[in-house]
Amino acid sequence: MLSLKVNKEYAAIARDELITRGWVDGNYKIEREGDYVFIPLSCSDYDAIEQALSSITEDFEIVEREHEAHPSKGCNMIDVPLDIIGDIAIIDGRNFSKEELKKAAENLLNCHKHLKTVRLKETAVSGTYRVRKTTYLTGEDKTETLHKENGIILKLNVDKVYFSPRLSTERQRIASLVKEGEHVAVLFAGVGPYSILIGKRCPTCKVVSVEINPVASKYAEENAKLNKVDNVEVINADVRALLKEERFKGWADRIVMPLPKDVLSFFDVAEYIAKPSAIVHAYIFAEDKEASEREIKKATRRPINILLTKEVGSYSPTLSRWVVDFQYV
Ligand SMILES: C[S@@+](CC[C@H](N)C(=O)[O-])C[C@H]1O[C@@H](n2cnc3c(N)ncnc32)[C@H](O)[C@@H]1O
Repeated sequence: MLSLKVNKEYAAIARDELITRGWVDGNYKIEREGDYVFIPLSCSDYDAIEQALSSITEDFEIVEREHEAHPSKGCNMIDVPLDIIGDIAIIDGRNFSKEELKKAAENLLNCHKHLKTVRLKETAVSGTYRVRKTTYLTGEDKTETLHKENGIILKLNVDKVYFSPRLSTERQRIASLVKEGEHVAVLFAGVGPYSILIGKRCPTCKVVSVEINPVASKYAEENAKLNKVDNVEVINADVRALLKEERFKGWADRIVMPLPKDVLSFFDVAEYIAKPSAIVHAYIFAEDKEASEREIKKATRRPINILLTKEVGSYSPTLSRWVVDFQYV
């Protein structure tokens, strides 16, 4: 059968990406040999698989392999949109009946043994804390999980904090840009996926992780300990509070701003904490590259040089999520 051979470091993210597309054959076991993990595939579209994984890793190939069968009952995946966070799958149930959802949820647990809980997305992400509501469908009735990405572990509650597994590649990109000894401010930091990854990858850096949701901040503190990083300072506050802190004036070499909905109204904070030629990674919802750059240039009061503009996900039929990397000049 067709099997995805992928480096073990990226195997969990690749597996979940393929499961969300319904391309893993859950009738067979995922197997490991040395540094590689083999994932049994139900999809034979090489190009589509390559495209789906290209932003995660290049260290994979599609091979022929005999996989051992699961002793469990047959696995018939139903194609529903879903996100996987740790061992919790969250189904987007629009357009499906109750019976179809129940069946899809049971199939997910039968087919993928690492999943323990299936929940139904009830609302879109909303409010200041950018949280969504989910309800229980099947498996263990829980909302807290441990999610692994980019070599770190993140503990979080899927109903009480914002977290999107889809941005892991972007977080890795940012962490790879950070240089020795940098001061990095992660604003709108959530449970710490950027802050902790940067702190872990760069032990000589100082990271400040600012988040308004007290539950997310508590997880960020716990996650720093879980990942044994001691160079991340978690601040539970509105990022505007930094404007009153003399110690952060002109402090940051790099500022990460993952609040695409409102980022434009916080550039005064970025300008206050930035060193003269600091780099900013600003996320924004916009129609296209030109609109993202135009909006950002309009909102900054200091002159900037745009280094890169990239689409990093979709948001609505007309808007995408963009990241604009820029440097103050
Ligand atoms: C889109 S989420 C990003 C979270 C995290 N960076 C991640 O990638 O998982 C935006 C976060 O900003 C927080 N937030 C919103 N307004 C804020 C403010 N004024 N000051 C600090 N944090 C804020 C929200 O609570 C939410 O956790």
